[in-house]
Amino acid sequence: MKTPNLVEARKRTKNPVEVLTDNYKLTEELKKLGLNKAYFIKTYGCQMNEHDTENIKAILEDMNFHEVDKMEDADLILLNTCAIRENAHNKVFGMIGRIKHLKETKPHTIAGICGCMAQEEVVVDEILNKYNWLDIVFGTHNIHNLPNILATSLAKKELEIEVLSIEGDVIENIPVKRDSLYKAWINIMYGCDKFCTYCIVPYTRGKQRSRMPEFIIEEAQNLVNEGYQEITLLGQNVNAYGKDLDINYCMENLLEDVAKTGINRIRFVTSHPWDFTDKMIEVIKNNDNIMPYIHLPIQSGSNKILKLMGRRYSRESYLELYNKIKLAIPNVSITTDIIVGFPGETEEDFEETLDIVNSCKFDSAFTFIFSKRFGTPAAKMVDDVSLEIKNKRLQELNELVNNYSNLANQKYLNKIVPVLLEGSSEKGENTLFGYTDTMKMVNVKTDKTNIGKIVNVKITDVKTWSLDGEICN
Ligand code: 5AD
Ligand code: SF4
Repeated sequence: MKTPNLVEARKRTKNPVEVLTDNYKLTEELKKLGLNKAYFIKTYGCQMNEHDTENIKAILEDMNFHEVDKMEDADLILLNTCAIRENAHNKVFGMIGRIKHLKETKPHTIAGICGCMAQEEVVVDEILNKYNWLDIVFGTHNIHNLPNILATSLAKKELEIEVLSIEGDVIENIPVKRDSLYKAWINIMYGCDKFCTYCIVPYTRGKQRSRMPEFIIEEAQNLVNEGYQEITLLGQNVNAYGKDLDINYCMENLLEDVAKTGINRIRFVTSHPWDFTDKMIEVIKNNDNIMPYIHLPIQSGSNKILKLMGRRYSRESYLELYNKIKLAIPNVSITTDIIVGFPGETEEDFEETLDIVNSCKFDSAFTFIFSKRFGTPAAKMVDDVSLEIKNKRLQELNELVNNYSNLANQKYLNKIVPVLLEGSSEKGENTLFGYTDTMKMVNVKTDKTNIGKIVNVKITDVKTWSLDGEICN
């Protein structure tokens, strides 16, 4: 049993990061563990977690488990959890309640928790106290060892916890079962060293570790060969890619090399305004297969709050970068994240956030109420904004943000845009959905034979959250 430790999770050393290429191994015995058994996995949170789930699925299928889409039909239930905000926590604990009921009628069901919540000392303490009927708990650094964790729990018939609070290695040989045949995620780096004062990620995902470029480019090339259309390069802070490697190779180099594989579409998330270089803007502009879409979280428009958040930029420098990108890349769409009700946020600070939204006119924004995460510096700050005011600010901000989303979408009316069609839309029979190069969702009347293709679509109707269109030749 290895349980997480907040103090260890916070540590950063200069110790070199190990690249491990043969850490995932299965014995013949482990390969038989899932024979005639079904698994169900539910994923919460960000793309990083979605992609971890793709690894977990492949590992389980190596063990001969098969996937089912109803929890009730599963012999093994896993929740891949998110710790970013309180409501993510609450959803998971609600689900654990449902699993308990299920286990009462089907006691042989194996149930487990993994992902970011598993990395939290407070959560694992709670599990040990109140939910020790669970079978396995494993952390974000322990995914490759899932077969052994499962085998240990089954042999001992008790809860097995393996959560390492370490800075982390880079493990290169974990298998993957991708959800899509057309779009793929590639991790380019793990962890985060920015330590924004509100954020739990640096504690749950370890220190920033960039993958070596050759592994990333090989993965991208294989995806091209398999017929994939789109790759999204994933990291908490992709612009800082390579800064932890001593090979003088950074995000702009990686973007250029991935572009050379000939993949039709390259995206990348998430960008931190601090590390966005002019050279990167140039590379995005000069490569047709790097999509003109940038997610650039601002978090607040007030310099006082940005400082308290530890964001390392000011509203002025954000605006300068924003305008530089807009000017250099015609047609670019920029989205953002904003937190309201951070400790100490006054009405004037909030007004400054509204003001910067009015200046930037973001294509869209994810907006959140500040949520106290245990162990982060902001959790110790005096949270002096009432819930009522936080809700009021969120609502006001959302109205403004939605206005600009609608305005940005209006520009698409009657335009012809390239859309990668991904699957059946909820909007009716013979309707597919897909995304433009600028990440606008489009519903297109066409048949399923077009799934997986990039087609030209004329936009016929515009809504706040999506566009409607028809294929044109
Ligand atoms: N409270 C509210 N929002 C948060 N985010 C991260 N941590 C918190 C928190 N403690 C938001 C940030 C980040 C996005 C992924 O989640 O806006 O960019
Ligand atoms: Fe969290 Fe800041 Fe790192 Fe993003 S950059 S993951 S907000 S600490």
